[in-house]
Amino acid sequence: MAKKIQIAIDGPAGAGKSTIAKIVAENLGFTYIDTGAMYRAVTYKAIETGIQLEDAVTLEEMLRETEIKLQPSNEGQLVFVDGNDVSAAIRSNEVTAHVSQVAAHANIREILVGMQKQLAAAGGVVMDGRDIGTHVLPAAELKIFMSASVEERARRRHLDNEKRGISSSIEKLKEEIALRDKMDSEREASPLIQAKDAIFLDTTSLTIDEAATAILSLAKEKMV
Ligand code: C5P
Repeated sequence: MAKKIQIAIDGPAGAGKSTIAKIVAENLGFTYIDTGAMYRAVTYKAIETGIQLEDAVTLEEMLRETEIKLQPSNEGQLVFVDGNDVSAAIRSNEVTAHVSQVAAHANIREILVGMQKQLAAAGGVVMDGRDIGTHVLPAAELKIFMSASVEERARRRHLDNEKRGISSSIEKLKEEIALRDKMDSEREASPLIQAKDAIFLDTTSLTIDEAATAILSLAKEKMV
């Protein structure tokens, strides 16, 4: 029987991680786990309840009383905060602009990483994020570090936003993505960095299908 491996996909914003991870998971019959959605869920609730995002202690108190649930569905992964479906709300420009600030708090990361490890414990998962290969699943059988040029990533986010009915401009997205990359890469607590044993995949000139096929063939080698 094929092994139920763990696949870690990391990389900067807009590299295509979630779209490609979803396809890979579906193809293998694995569970897809979008860890960025968890950081977004915390940020969303903090903004809604008026908590200062630099106040790590109050944020942690809030998180300890919050139920975050990820639920696979035909339209992708749904996210529930305290029983409310926030899947669309966590993609707003406001949450996107503030999430890296929340994700920089080591105490918040520790709690979410604990949940992520539990979700992946049984194997058969494709997990995407920034620190999956380095911190969350250091023993993952397959680690991919996915990137693309900032221009291409901004263009993709723009199309994505248009599809979701969110207003956006490519120039603004470029700035926003570059700033988020900088904050995610320079923070002290598990920064965005390629794991030593990760395979680098530049998706700038790859189609979604080409990138998914490349990962699937690597995964199949590890599953025998
Ligand atoms: O993947 P997505 O763009 O939705 O992630 C939103 C933010 O959550 C990232 O910019 C990063 O600050 C944070 N994040 C993280 N570690 C992860 C996943 C996301 O710090 N594993």
